[in-house]
Amino acid sequence: MEKNPFKIRLMKSDDFDIVVKLDNKVVNKSRAEYYRLKFEELVQSSDCVPASLVAEQDDGQLVGFVMGGILVGEYGISHEATLETIVVDPNQRNKGIGQRLIDEFVDHMRSLGVQKISTLVDSTDTEMMHFFTSNRFTPSKTVNLERVPRN
Ligand SMILES: CC(C)(COP(=O)(O)OP(=O)(O)OC[C@H]1O[C@@H](n2cnc3c(N)ncnc32)[C@H](O)[C@@H]1OP(=O)(O)O)[C@@H](O)C(=O)NCCC(=O)NCCS
Repeated sequence: MEKNPFKIRLMKSDDFDIVVKLDNKVVNKSRAEYYRLKFEELVQSSDCVPASLVAEQDDGQLVGFVMGGILVGEYGISHEATLETIVVDPNQRNKGIGQRLIDEFVDHMRSLGVQKISTLVDSTDTEMMHFFTSNRFTPSKTVNLERVPRN
């Protein structure tokens, strides 16, 4: 059987530049400021249980990542977590990296006592809807409401 050419490990502060670069490859713009805040909140903060993961090739190249964290609710740490973003290098897709990231993220969350993981997806984004559905995410009962702020 073919050996998995990548491993999954916890994200660390040093991954920042390559995470921004990978995201840039997908969304075609730099979201460094967004990731600076997310790293502060999810990777560097001592208040947050480390949960974000990266997929790394044998040669050390980063090929994907998933970021998320455990929600702190009104009554303290809750049993719910969010998956905020997942990205796999466009050149490395359809090899099971996305699924491995989700599986390990879910296992890790389960080991921390999390009972539910939620994520927000644009319902017209068929690629992401398909990916999350294939990975056993289902529509929740909560609906996002919005209003345009004009008179
Ligand atoms: C969605 C995304 C994470 C999926 O990553 P991925 O690594 O390609 O995911 P997987 O390889 O696990 O699964 C994709 C497909 O490959 C298939 N696959 C998995 N391993 C395979 C293998 N060894 N050989 C062939 N196909 C395989 C899966 O079954 C799946 O097929 P399906 O689409 O028919 O269900 C990736 O496409 C991505 O990063 N998209 C952009 C996300 C984005 O916009 N993020 C920024 C905002 S959140």
